[in-house]
Amino acid sequence: MCGIIGYIGNEQAQPILLEGLKQLEYRGYDSAGIATLIKGSVSVRKEKGKIAALEKLLDKKPLKGTIGLGHTRWATHGIPNQSNAHPHVDCHGDIAVVHNGIVENYEELKEKLMQEGHRFNSATDTEVIAHLIEKFYKDDLEAAVRAAIREIKGSFALGVISAKYPDTIIGIRYASPLVIGLGKGENFIASDITAVLKHTKDIIFLEDNEMVIMNKDSVKITTIGGRPVQRDAVKINWDISQAQKSGYPHFMLKEIAEQPTVVESILNHRVSQGKESVYFEELKIQEDVLSKIENINIVACGTAYHAGLCGKYILEELVKIPVAVDVSSEFRYRNPILGKNALTISISQSGETADTLASMREAKRLGATILSIVNVLGSTVTRESDGIIYTHAGPEIGVASTKAYTAQLCILYLFAIYMGMLKGAVSQQKVKELLSQMQQLPQIIAKLLADQKVILKVSKEQHNKKCFLYLGRNINFPNALEGALKLKEISYIHAEGYASGEMKHGPIALIDKDMPVVCIATASSVYDKMTSNIQEIKSRSGIVISIATEGDERIKHHSDYVIYIPPVNELFSPIPVAVCLQLIAYYIAVKNNRDVDQPRNLAKSVTVE
Ligand code: AGP
Repeated sequence: MCGIIGYIGNEQAQPILLEGLKQLEYRGYDSAGIATLIKGSVSVRKEKGKIAALEKLLDKKPLKGTIGLGHTRWATHGIPNQSNAHPHVDCHGDIAVVHNGIVENYEELKEKLMQEGHRFNSATDTEVIAHLIEKFYKDDLEAAVRAAIREIKGSFALGVISAKYPDTIIGIRYASPLVIGLGKGENFIASDITAVLKHTKDIIFLEDNEMVIMNKDSVKITTIGGRPVQRDAVKINWDISQAQKSGYPHFMLKEIAEQPTVVESILNHRVSQGKESVYFEELKIQEDVLSKIENINIVACGTAYHAGLCGKYILEELVKIPVAVDVSSEFRYRNPILGKNALTISISQSGETADTLASMREAKRLGATILSIVNVLGSTVTRESDGIIYTHAGPEIGVASTKAYTAQLCILYLFAIYMGMLKGAVSQQKVKELLSQMQQLPQIIAKLLADQKVILKVSKEQHNKKCFLYLGRNINFPNALEGALKLKEISYIHAEGYASGEMKHGPIALIDKDMPVVCIATASSVYDKMTSNIQEIKSRSGIVISIATEGDERIKHHSDYVIYIPPVNELFSPIPVAVCLQLIAYYIAVKNNRDVDQPRNLAKSVTVE
């Protein structure tokens, strides 16, 4: 995934583009660049590495101009280097393009363009777009862009400027997000609202297959084919400070710390005053459709997939219908059988994950009703769903998903209660009991955040180990996978999540004095089984890091470390446990001086398959 920003107005573009790119850096950060228009010519500055490297270059060689494009890259075609960085230009350097997505047929296009005499400077797919616009340009930039787009197969969001049109920016959305920011005497395009929120809260979300032709005082939206489109602006109700670190050393720690507020806000907005019912104003799927659902399948990737696995336990417990969970990238290749009256739930923080979008399309083709649990407003997933439930976790900038995960779990609990009521699977009494227990979650999380000394001790003493195991059972088995993923993706230490009962079927051979094992042993119906597994590990000199429930003294005899969570209904224990796992990963990564918010090789959302 990459980040795009465009500006046209009365201010110098360079500082606005740079500031916007910093807000988009979480989308990709292996190279970056900007282009501006001044005195009828396009000037480009681009550099390998993060925005800071580009800033250094611009300090030495600044760009003037009140119209420009910016881009921060997560490489798909062409290694991360200066020449492959965007913006890309045509043969004469008159047309500059920034792109998020993939040109699937770029090789054949490039070959044809080279045969026609075009000269290329990069190994990217994007550069063909600049040369296509040049090829079709007669004396109308808009027409040339439309003609060029017709040649392209793939997904893209584009920004285009031309030396011949010093007062125009063209933006296109086709399966990759692009928003328009409406200012006073200035306008913006961007991959997401965080890049322009400092300047305007009036945002238009372009739909797929739409194009904007923008001057500083006017915005014209059409389909890529040219048909005019009317799109109203949305007033965004959060401000840029929510997308800043606000004094925290990393976005990830800030977002971990936001979880009590996020959970509280979800409960306040989704649970009735009397704590006896749940509602989702944006759901759109009619109750008579939901009450007929007989099968649920969940598709998601990464952390969202772990939320989906937890969702299986939650939904089967409260709704009493079968739930299947698939990694999105596997779902559509296994020829899934969804059964009749099927509901497919897609879970995605970004709402742009290509594998999950592809799975939703397959489920739709198979006749399922599609419900999405998603965080980013107006994302592509929301456009392809029959119903949406926003997690409203606010912008999640850290690449490692934290508050979005616990928000997804919250929504799954509430949706299961809602469905359980519709299907008559839970009594009103049970609903009131569950909802009042959920009300305790914000302070349970807050209590964990207030006392991190054991976790800090674990990170201090175990951060240099080469491999970790994470064990869980029942509803906390998905958390074992999630804890391992968190550690892997930000500390680069190998870790494996396992169903604890599976240890004796092989993995126990790994246990020795250098193997830390995080054991999720909170009060539960499987507690005794879990403590037996812990003793098996301890008796083989494994290092046991237990997550247990306050008051459990017994666990201390078999553990090197015990991280306590306050007492909570087993059903809801995944949320406080997740917070402990996030903190373990965070502090170990920090002890290893890792780039916690932007780990190597990763991007916040994977918009390619
Ligand atoms: C989680 O920490 C990772 N960043 C990654 O696994 C992520 O959960 C996955 O790519 C899915 O992203 P999505 O929720 O935006 O679809």
